[in-house]
Amino acid sequence: MGSPGYVPLILALSASCFLAASQLPLAVTTWPYHSAVQTAWNTLQSGGSALDAVEEGCSRCEIDQCRGTVGYGGNPDEHGETTLDAMIMNGDTMEAGGVGQLRRIKSAIRVARAVMEHTSHSLLVGESASEFAQNMGFPSEDLTTNKSLSMHADWLNQRCQPNFWKNVVPNAETSCGPYKPMKGPLSKQNRISAQLGNIHNHDTIGMVVIDKTGSVAAGTSTNGLSHKIPGRVGDSPIVGAGAYADSTAGAAAATGIGDIMMRFLPSYQAVEYMRMGIEPARACQKTINRIQKYYPQMFGALICANRTGGYGAACSKSPELVQFHFMVYNPSKVSEEIVDCI
Ligand SMILES: *[C@@H]1O[C@H](CO)[C@@H](O)[C@H](O)[C@H]1NC(C)=O
Ligand SMILES: *[C@@H]1O[C@H](CO)[C@@H](O)[C@H](O)[C@H]1NC(C)=O
Repeated sequence: MGSPGYVPLILALSASCFLAASQLPLAVTTWPYHSAVQTAWNTLQSGGSALDAVEEGCSRCEIDQCRGTVGYGGNPDEHGETTLDAMIMNGDTMEAGGVGQLRRIKSAIRVARAVMEHTSHSLLVGESASEFAQNMGFPSEDLTTNKSLSMHADWLNQRCQPNFWKNVVPNAETSCGPYKPMKGPLSKQNRISAQLGNIHNHDTIGMVVIDKTGSVAAGTSTNGLSHKIPGRVGDSPIVGAGAYADSTAGAAAATGIGDIMMRFLPSYQAVEYMRMGIEPARACQKTINRIQKYYPQMFGALICANRTGGYGAACSKSPELVQFHFMVYNPSKVSEEIVDCI
């Protein structure tokens, strides 16, 4: 006792305990969206809430058109129009707001927040969501860009490949529509994996933020799948699918093939695993495993954070994805982290 040799050890131990206990605030995003996580962090530093940080972070990505898969001017639908899906959730009150297939309005995440704060609903869709947004003061603007126009023109030139139809005539693998239902037995083939060659097709931003008081919020924003069938709404604006937040347990957000992932409510599932005390990385993995039982090569990933600021991620190994990159910002670091897919 009192040996000077022990002093550095004790200091080192208490320093690491201090770090472990001060992992809040925390901001995590899907994909290496540096500017989004930085914006979320800055929002917290200037006194904003977790909810504000999610809104500002996702908004940053909408303005930057992150990888062409968030915001205007990307992933046109079959008619050549870009439409947006977004949601935001308050883990203190369990309020949520979302928009699906939002047309002609650029700030999808802000409209989602307006749905939460100015209506008793949780999800507005399509043309009526745009009307709501305009009434709330959001400008109506064309979301088309030269890039989205040329993506659409290329798709028409490739006989509308890829597309998301099955069991129709004419054969959707070789022809454009309009399609009619095929007569006779339905094929068991799940076309969706064959249709997705391009990883930059569905990199939704999902964001989880916990402020220093432990308030948890989550949100998403995306322009969905390229060449989606008009009217398609993915997982992103669906509570428990695209994201989920509960300040008594944690939060999660998903990215990938929303059409499949939403059937498993992965964000809700992961938060429930964390509520049971399972560590965030493991909670993400267990959730991905459940989907893989049915869709072994699904393209998808999940970020998870528990209420004390532990975090992790997991992804499903597919031809398009073997590693998943995500961003983490907390008092001890800002880093792009990588997990190997399972
Ligand atoms: C889009 O294309 C048109 C016609 O080629 C061109 O005049 C215009 O400057 C382009 N706009 C942008 C933003 O590149
Ligand atoms: C949160 O996760 C961290 C890191 O895995 C873990 O050390 C901590 O005990 C977890 N907190 C809770 C409340 O489960």
